[in-house]
Amino acid sequence: MEENTAEHFTAQEKRIGAKIVKGVKLAQEGKARAAADIFQGVLKTNPDEPDALHYLGMVMFALGKPNKAIASIRQSLTHEPNNPHALNNLGNMLKLKGKFEEAAESYRAALKIDPVNAQCLNNLGISLRNLGESDAAIDAFKEAVTVDPNLAEAHYNLANLHFERGDHGAALNFYRNSARLGGTWRDPVFVAKIMIAAEYEADAEEMLADFLKHHPDHEGARVQLAALRGEAVEALSADYVADHFDKFAESFDGVLKGLDYRAPELVAAVITERLDPPAADKEILDLGCGTGLVGPLIAPYKKRLVGIDLSESMLARAAKLDCYDALQLAELQTFVEKLPPHCLDVAMSADTLIYLGDMKRTFEAVANALVPGGLFVATFEKQDEAEGDYRLGVSGRFRHSLAYLKRAAAGAGLTVDHVSEEALRTEGGDPVYGYIFACTA
Ligand SMILES: C[S@@+](CC[C@H](N)C(=O)[O-])C[C@H]1O[C@@H](n2cnc3c(N)ncnc32)[C@H](O)[C@@H]1O
Repeated sequence: MEENTAEHFTAQEKRIGAKIVKGVKLAQEGKARAAADIFQGVLKTNPDEPDALHYLGMVMFALGKPNKAIASIRQSLTHEPNNPHALNNLGNMLKLKGKFEEAAESYRAALKIDPVNAQCLNNLGISLRNLGESDAAIDAFKEAVTVDPNLAEAHYNLANLHFERGDHGAALNFYRNSARLGGTWRDPVFVAKIMIAAEYEADAEEMLADFLKHHPDHEGARVQLAALRGEAVEALSADYVADHFDKFAESFDGVLKGLDYRAPELVAAVITERLDPPAADKEILDLGCGTGLVGPLIAPYKKRLVGIDLSESMLARAAKLDCYDALQLAELQTFVEKLPPHCLDVAMSADTLIYLGDMKRTFEAVANALVPGGLFVATFEKQDEAEGDYRLGVSGRFRHSLAYLKRAAAGAGLTVDHVSEEALRTEGGDPVYGYIFACTA
């Protein structure tokens, strides 16, 4: 009797196994829908089958259904909690959804079972970096390259973090390891920044020029090369800026935390000092609101707070805060120019006008939109007057001279009534100095 049951069970198991193999093959051929049908078929008769649940999760993700995918893999893990592949795949999905804490937890669980999975260690490092935990991220990436010295991506990630810490020599070495191992170009702008910081400007110039031969439309590389050669760049295209921040949105808050980013607090401090105590009666516009770091600091003062930004993904993050009354995808100069006169009490812009060179249009539009006595507070990166009015740096951001800003504001009829110089953030381990610039209409 027992033998018969065992035989029957084995046969059934074989049938399920064959179906799962077929489903995996279809998924590998890119036929996700057909694969999903097979896994769902298995689950109809065997609802707890862990492999079918795991692979169904994978194809659901490929079909653009991340919530169903995550639920399916989690269910698989309730039946087979020690499957490191399912844990790693769950981590990847959570990472892509920007749930970095949960992703890190999943990778750690996978690594408990399979501690020498270099890819998983690298994934853990990325999640930790996006949480602003750079020490722990470095440990994870180092562990990854110890386990697999050929993992180009982990070398690249180590280059990134060492650059942020100001260890430019180490950053360059890690980058060279990554390139030697066949690491792709990924972000030539970042690589050039490492080279320039390590005082290999000629190498950076050569690398950018070579890159542009193969990718002539890459605006980031083009403007960086121009900046490196001391050529003037008048403006960045809206598409380029939007694309940059769309890619950066998920990790923005964590990465900026690791760079001692202070622009939102510094802007908010000037506003709150003027408007205290909060009366919840102000019409406020946040120009380039990004993920919304300024919004919550100003919320007690608002009757209505509107955020505008070029990047859809940054706006999607801001929407999660439930703090802005409206969020709009728009270019800031064009948006403000269309506002009716005297409709704003406060306009604010943290770390955003650095993506624009000429300030004449912006100041004029803001002056028109503010009520008499209305307040405009923004940050700018500092440029010495001798270097001209404004200039795009190799960082990809514009720096403005204080004399120019004062002239442009006065020309628009604004009264400058506060300027302070502050470290806004770090770049390559060094402070980036700028102005908190406030004026009234
Ligand atoms: C460095 S982030 C700062 C975000 C936010 N203000 C903060 O302090 O966290 C700059 C933001 O400005 C947006 N931005 C840049 N140029 C813009 C423009 N011309 N119009 C609208 N948004 C712009 C970018 O998409 C990005 O979200």
